[in-house]
Amino acid sequence: MKSQRANKSALEVFCCSFSDMLCSAADSPSSVYLTMALPVVIFLLALTSLSAASAPDCKDLVEPFIPEDPKLVFGKWVYVMGAGDPKPYHKALESLKSSWIDLCPTSDSQVVTLRWGDHCFNRCILGEVNATVTGIATTFRKNLSDHKGHILKTCSDCLLWTDTFRNGDVTGRYILQFTRTGKIDPKDVEIFKKQVGCLNFPDNFHSYDGKTELCPDDKESTE
Ligand SMILES: *[C@@H]1O[C@H](CO)[C@@H](O)[C@H](O)[C@H]1NC(C)=O
Ligand SMILES: *[C@@H]1O[C@H](CO)[C@@H](O)[C@H](O)[C@H]1NC(C)=O
Repeated sequence: MKSQRANKSALEVFCCSFSDMLCSAADSPSSVYLTMALPVVIFLLALTSLSAASAPDCKDLVEPFIPEDPKLVFGKWVYVMGAGDPKPYHKALESLKSSWIDLCPTSDSQVVTLRWGDHCFNRCILGEVNATVTGIATTFRKNLSDHKGHILKTCSDCLLWTDTFRNGDVTGRYILQFTRTGKIDPKDVEIFKKQVGCLNFPDNFHSYDGKTELCPDDKESTE
């Protein structure tokens, strides 16, 4: 009975509050991955293991990120991959067939409007909430769920958001990868996998199928 309840609330958080993921993005030329000249890589390979030599470690991968230019975060983003924790929230991501978010600045530099369009249970769920940005943390409240999260370093033209939320006595967390196009380079998927691992999310992450149409955005034409 307890798990049934957890499942139900997971879906509520997911489809009603979930895409509440928020805001902010990362777009920076200083990408996550290290580029090394080939001779250096070969030299390091000789000294130590491949993973240690060629991959950034968890400390770098999970560091909260503040983009130099906040404008890079604004605008429309399409969901590509995600994971949740604990299990019911992870499973709830299966029902998300497509999703977009749109981040808009307001006259208050600490307030960002988050809009979303989730294709869930064969219908579109649109919503809008004001999010408060304080330092690296962004918080918003939606349908009784309080979310607090931040962005992580990721590929350029990508947005990686992770948050924890509380709804009454229920808590959970998500990590969600967005791009401008809904597509992502396989090498960036590898980085995402490492970040998921570093943060101890389930490693069987969910992905957008790339086919389900995005929900129509009634405000798009006004921009
Ligand atoms: C809150 O949840 C209810 C029922 O689950 C839903 O109808 C409503 O649209 C949600 N509100 C927001 C702002 O998402
Ligand atoms: C966000 O804040 C603005 C300014 O206070 C307000 O006009 C608007 O209705 C708010 N939007 C939501 C979804 O709460």
